[in-house]
Amino acid sequence: MNEVVLELKQIRKSFGDNHIHRGVNLRLHKGESVGLLGGSGTGKSVLLRSVVGLEYIDDGEILFKGHRIDQLNENQMVPIRTQLSYSFQSGALFDSLSVFDNIAYPLFEHTKLTLPQIKEKVSDVLKLIDLEGKEHLMPSDLSGGMQKRVGMARAMIMNPEIILYDEPTAGLDPANTLNVVSIMKKLKDRGHASIFVTHDIPSALSLCDRIFILKDGVIAFNGTTKEFKESDLPLVKNFLTH
Ligand SMILES: Nc1ncnc2c1ncn2[C@@H]1O[C@H](COP(=O)(O)OP(=O)(O)OP(=O)(O)O)[C@@H](O)[C@H]1O
Ligand SMILES: [Mg+2]
Repeated sequence: MNEVVLELKQIRKSFGDNHIHRGVNLRLHKGESVGLLGGSGTGKSVLLRSVVGLEYIDDGEILFKGHRIDQLNENQMVPIRTQLSYSFQSGALFDSLSVFDNIAYPLFEHTKLTLPQIKEKVSDVLKLIDLEGKEHLMPSDLSGGMQKRVGMARAMIMNPEIILYDEPTAGLDPANTLNVVSIMKKLKDRGHASIFVTHDIPSALSLCDRIFILKDGVIAFNGTTKEFKESDLPLVKNFLTH
């Protein structure tokens, strides 16, 4: 079996009396794409936010490549986040920065690359997201689908081991959905592992190797995409028929 790049062990998290995670276990292998499904409010986003240190867990362990990261402080998380990238639902672009500066931002922050080297990298990812030559546009000049793709480009520019996607296709029309999923496939082909949180079952099935369902604070289903499609469990059928 491939190397485990991310492991969640017995994660517990509550907001007051709202016990969101009650012992979540999850393993992500190198290069693998995992779909994380679950009803609204089951804690999928909180789980991704916990992995990148935007939320503290109450109990359990989060290991990135075998090293615990759940107790790191904000400064210690900075280098980890270049390897463990979180693609925000909105794209979360800086409105006052051009497409080039939005994508290049992590390179200016975290590397000593020269401007020509940075330009080359940005131009390479713009090709990947089908926005070649659009460096100088501002986020307000872009459609919602394009903004999401630029957000994805920024999430992968540091060549992270893992990309966490929180509903990347939500709110997109079918053409833009296909566009975003095709970029996710290209990133998978480049070797990035991913967790894909979504309500978009067809996209999850077309991209993912495994499917997890979060329910009542635990991973209630964990199987290959084939096992998911063929399962007779009511829990699974519920997703396939809606
Ligand atoms: N900062 C917070 N303070 C208090 N409660 C919170 C906070 N963040 C999330 N919650 C609660 O945690 C629960 C899980 O939220 P989360 O956003 O992870 O759900 P989700 O599975 O991503 O849902 P959706 O599919 O609708 O995006 C919800 O009940 C939410 O209200
Ligand atoms: Mg969510």
